[in-house]
Amino acid sequence: MRQDKTVEFSPSLLQALHTARHIAVLTGAGISAESGVPTFQGGFWGQYSPEELATPEGFQKQPKLVWDWYGMRRNQLKDVQPNPGHAALAAMQQRVPKFTLITQNIDGLHQKAGNHGVIELHGSIHRVKCFQEGTLVEHWDDSREQPPRCAHCGAFLRPDVVWFGEMLPQDAIEAAQIAADDCDVFFSIGTATHVYPAAALPFDALHNGATVIEINPDITPLSTRATHSLRGSSGQILPQLVKAVWD
Ligand code: OAD
Repeated sequence: MRQDKTVEFSPSLLQALHTARHIAVLTGAGISAESGVPTFQGGFWGQYSPEELATPEGFQKQPKLVWDWYGMRRNQLKDVQPNPGHAALAAMQQRVPKFTLITQNIDGLHQKAGNHGVIELHGSIHRVKCFQEGTLVEHWDDSREQPPRCAHCGAFLRPDVVWFGEMLPQDAIEAAQIAADDCDVFFSIGTATHVYPAAALPFDALHNGATVIEINPDITPLSTRATHSLRGSSGQILPQLVKAVWD
């Protein structure tokens, strides 16, 4: 049985959460690390490069490789459970007047943990769309050709995830920006804070006068600017924080 070390939270941090009208949260791959999902820094791509697997050019060059790789990742996720960090955010959403969860992750684990209205900046591995028209496809048959083709236009189907060089879903980034500008508290959890425009959100929240709380075992470009920079894993810190504030 893992014994989590007890984390001490400053009174000002607890007070900010107690009185928050609107809490916004940005998560990255780090929050899923304790569920066994490799982070991007920790080998997410396996023996391939992001250029081969996560660009439109890579897909056009090797459509079957990319389709199969995301299919393998999607199947792996069927057996992956949310960890206590995900569960704590689901509990937090029930306890604050307004809560916005923004994620860079494509694994769907926040929804599996019970959060709703999740803003998926980089899409979802569980959704598939037509490469040409961008229309979402509910069901597909990849027992014959892989990738399967769009029934409407014949182009290949692809995962509904944002690849490098692609624009983020406009509605998602706009909703995230509104939350960063409106919130009283902004959490940045499990992200290296390197990939924009997501990485700008905690700085925008700082600019709007929000209390910014970072949770990460490592230092990031946000660490020296955050109001509170909690050095540790989200699966350990978040459950204790929710208990300290709302139980
Ligand atoms: P990264 O893999 O770049 O960074 C993961 C962060 O999580 C690092 O800062 C780790 O220190 C931290 N971390 C690791 N274990 C943790 C734990 N148990 N608790 C809390 N934090 C932990 O992943 P992201 O920052 O999410 O984009 O990457 C952002 C984007 O870059 C991804 O969405 C992806 C990638 O390229 C696209 O695919 C478009």
